[in-house]
Amino acid sequence: MSRIVFLNGSFLPIEEAKVPFMDRGFMFGDGVYEGIGMLDGRLIDNDAHLERLERSLAEIRIPNPYTRAEWSSFQEELARRNGMTEGFIYFQVTRGVAERDFFFPEDAKPTVAMFTQAKAIAGAPAAQTGIAVVTVPDLRWQRRDIKSINLLAQVLAKQAAKEAGAQEAWLVEDGFVTEGGSSSAFIVTKEGSIVVRPLSNAILPGITRKSLLQLSKEVGIALEERRFTVEEAYDAAEAFLTSASNFVLPIVSIDGRPVADGKPGPITKRLRELYLAMASAPAMAAE
Ligand code: PDD
Repeated sequence: MSRIVFLNGSFLPIEEAKVPFMDRGFMFGDGVYEGIGMLDGRLIDNDAHLERLERSLAEIRIPNPYTRAEWSSFQEELARRNGMTEGFIYFQVTRGVAERDFFFPEDAKPTVAMFTQAKAIAGAPAAQTGIAVVTVPDLRWQRRDIKSINLLAQVLAKQAAKEAGAQEAWLVEDGFVTEGGSSSAFIVTKEGSIVVRPLSNAILPGITRKSLLQLSKEVGIALEERRFTVEEAYDAAEAFLTSASNFVLPIVSIDGRPVADGKPGPITKRLRELYLAMASAPAMAAE
């Protein structure tokens, strides 16, 4: 079966899905994207992802081509056509096709592209072993709250991490960790509180982050929403990341130094279990 993707309202074999040469996504990175996890055939936190998409689009003044109901039905149909019940759905909207000129085109129609990536998220081996991160300078622009398709700084950061034997980069600004290359960054203090950077233009408002904070509140795990330094992370009891494509993943080393005993920590494990239970429960349980 050929892989089916979605382009501008049509479901097509990937080989037939062509975007015009002058698309502003290709020329300028002029667009935004979203990525959502799927477990047991269900989209996790879809409303929150669609809300963030609406916000990203509004911030860069691209009209949203679809209603939430339309987006959901396209996502579900695409997963169905690809036989995917667990994995990641990527969708992006660019400002459309126009002769190359920096000013917004008068009459371009947004280009919408969507694809699926089947992936074992719940049973991922990295959830058992934990992963390594390395810190790199955060070279991104000042509107990281917008989920822009401009990901050059993240591509370079994550490649540097890979070349250092790690699986994720932690981005650092003024000595403080902002977030991961494609994930939200957390530590757990020796006293057992979760520490996460507060929302601002410096980070993406992670949807998994938001659900995780809600879950930790429900079970009474203490939370400190504040910035943390690289040194504090080296000395933390636990560290972990969250993202739609990984849920909650333990971090067992930072810049080659083991986090505590170098094994996934108990609070991280508990949060991952809580998240998995939420994600596999009937949709309303997540509300
Ligand atoms: N990345 N921070 C950044 C910079 C991200 O790119 C992501 C997501 C997150 C986590 O957000 P969420 O929980 O909403 O997935 C934080 C996606 C998964 C990606 O680019 O593949």
